[in-house]
Amino acid sequence: MTQILAHRGYSAAFAENTMSAFIAAEKAGADGLELDVQLTKDGEVVVIHDEKIDRTTSGNGLVKNFLFKEIRKFNANKKGIKKEPIPSLIEVLEWMQSNRLICNIELKNNLIPYEGMEEKVIQLVRKYNLSNRIIISSFNHYSIVLSYRMAAEIETAPLFNERIYMPWVYAQSIRARGIHPKLASVSDEIIEAAIENGIAVRPYTVNKEADMHRLFKLNCTSLITDDPVKALKFKKQYEKRP
Ligand code: G3P
Ligand code: CA
Repeated sequence: MTQILAHRGYSAAFAENTMSAFIAAEKAGADGLELDVQLTKDGEVVVIHDEKIDRTTSGNGLVKNFLFKEIRKFNANKKGIKKEPIPSLIEVLEWMQSNRLICNIELKNNLIPYEGMEEKVIQLVRKYNLSNRIIISSFNHYSIVLSYRMAAEIETAPLFNERIYMPWVYAQSIRARGIHPKLASVSDEIIEAAIENGIAVRPYTVNKEADMHRLFKLNCTSLITDDPVKALKFKKQYEKRP
């Protein structure tokens, strides 16, 4: 059955990429999470979508210009009642020791080529013994290949917005086990053919009811959604079928 991955956590109801959003996704019954990582000035892997902290936190400036201890002072839950810091990847992986979630780590290195990012992420995934519960994705496909070369045991998946011809052939050529396409860039036929060829398909970002039904009917591998509660509600209809 199609897995539900909570995009930036349960971001429809909680501040994106915060521990609150991740914990809420787990409590809601999601199969896993999607989150974004960037690197601080001192090389700490932190969980935040944008290269700048301006949109999602109380601060301003580029992630790469802050030391970890400095960036932790900003509030990543501006609209919430309780203040909370930008999570470190370590914090998320430690918390994952207490549950069975899958986690899709998106390397946000397509604009800023963070030196050593792949190695740092892989080292942490191995340290926390999570290789079989992690999927590394990125719009930077050089980074996907590098990750595979460093850690063939961890699943990789290229992200893309374009209507790539036979994307499963491309995925196989870079030894990725999955593809993470923009929802609008994959037809039913492409999803089915990719899965038949052994390539997992996890479209993003699937928030509309009709799109959720479409993917459940196709038995798509996973869907990445801001609203795991909504997706789980519709998924129940399909689970009851013989
Ligand atoms: O991983 C799927 C999706 O998150 C990619 O786009 O911009 O939301 O990180 P974005
Ligand atoms: Ca993302």
